[in-house]
Amino acid sequence: MSIEMTKADVPGVPLLEVRDLHVEFRTREGAAKAVNGVSYSVDAGETLAVLGESGSGKSVTAQTIMGILDTPPGHITGGQVLYRGQDMLTWSEEARRQVRGNKIAMIFQDALSALNPVLSVGYQLGEMFRVHRGLSKKEARARSIELMDRVRIPAAKERVNDYPHQFSGGMRQRIMIAMALALEPEVIIADEPTTALDVTVQAQVMDLLAELQRDFHMGLILITHDLGVVADVADKIAVMYAGRIVENAPVHELYKRPAHPYTKGLLDSIPRLDHKGKELYAIKGLPPSLTAIPSGCAFNPRCAMARDICRTEVPPLADVAERDGSPLGGRTSACHFWKETIHD
Ligand SMILES: Nc1ncnc2c1ncn2[C@@H]1O[C@H](COP(=O)(O)OP(=O)(O)O)[C@@H](O)[C@H]1O
Ligand code: SF4
Ligand SMILES: [Mg+2]
Repeated sequence: MSIEMTKADVPGVPLLEVRDLHVEFRTREGAAKAVNGVSYSVDAGETLAVLGESGSGKSVTAQTIMGILDTPPGHITGGQVLYRGQDMLTWSEEARRQVRGNKIAMIFQDALSALNPVLSVGYQLGEMFRVHRGLSKKEARARSIELMDRVRIPAAKERVNDYPHQFSGGMRQRIMIAMALALEPEVIIADEPTTALDVTVQAQVMDLLAELQRDFHMGLILITHDLGVVADVADKIAVMYAGRIVENAPVHELYKRPAHPYTKGLLDSIPRLDHKGKELYAIKGLPPSLTAIPSGCAFNPRCAMARDICRTEVPPLADVAERDGSPLGGRTSACHFWKETIHD
């Protein structure tokens, strides 16, 4: 499979698409169904936020896209991961390696464990250029400093030989972003990139990521459990629950009018300035065990709107429309009662 063949943009074909993906972990307790039919896509210049509580399958989906899923115990039991329309799940490991880092790069939550503690950051950045671009040591070092400047690490030239532990958490995360950017990928998957940081630093790193995404016209998949951090940076949101997407919407639409009770619950549990003094809402109960996902709608034990049909029939991810039936573009919801949710 030649990657060169697939370079040009093909109209109507997303840059990166996950289609009906199923992943399970086979453990002694049974099969944990971590991903149960996830579909999403991202194009150049677009930011997709993937939102959901811990354990909803966000990272497993990302690992499957990157080709770094722990197999075993993880098994891909269905679906496709399409890069420019070609299913990477059918490719050789060699072909996947060509895409990883080069075309699709990943930023992890924990920079300290993702970076090598005994090598300087300049060495680790430079390695990308030496190994993948064949640059000399000197050229690689110059490019590393440039990149550190680009992600706004102060005094990059002086700090290029420092080790990861000599940087603050926010600066380390900038170094991770620089590593991901090094080979000028088309898509970056950022998995909870700011979760480990203080709130003020979180905003700075998120702003930087959004700026780079725009400047390089990349696709960005921004994985988070925090609806508060994505409002200003994402174009569209996919909300995950128990390994499924339960709602898709353009970001501002989702904030204004959620079409799924779970999304509504998430929104009501964000602290907001205009709600000062009011008690914060919390969705009752816990996400289900993935070895025993409730029948029907997986959210039904926690849903105040649940009725009989919710316990027996899995709600399909259906198009959402206005009261008069006119479609709400880009919006879907997996709730039997989405009409009541969005229109009431
Ligand atoms: N290496 C693993 N071994 C066994 N089970 C795993 C492993 N990684 C993930 N899982 C299962 O998949 C579920 C979803 O994980 P993950 O995608 O990491 O959730 P999150 O949405 O928080 O990123 C976990 O709750 C767990 O049951
Ligand atoms: S399908 Fe039923 S249980 Fe599920 S979210 Fe909708 S109302 Fe709640
Ligand atoms: Mg995760």
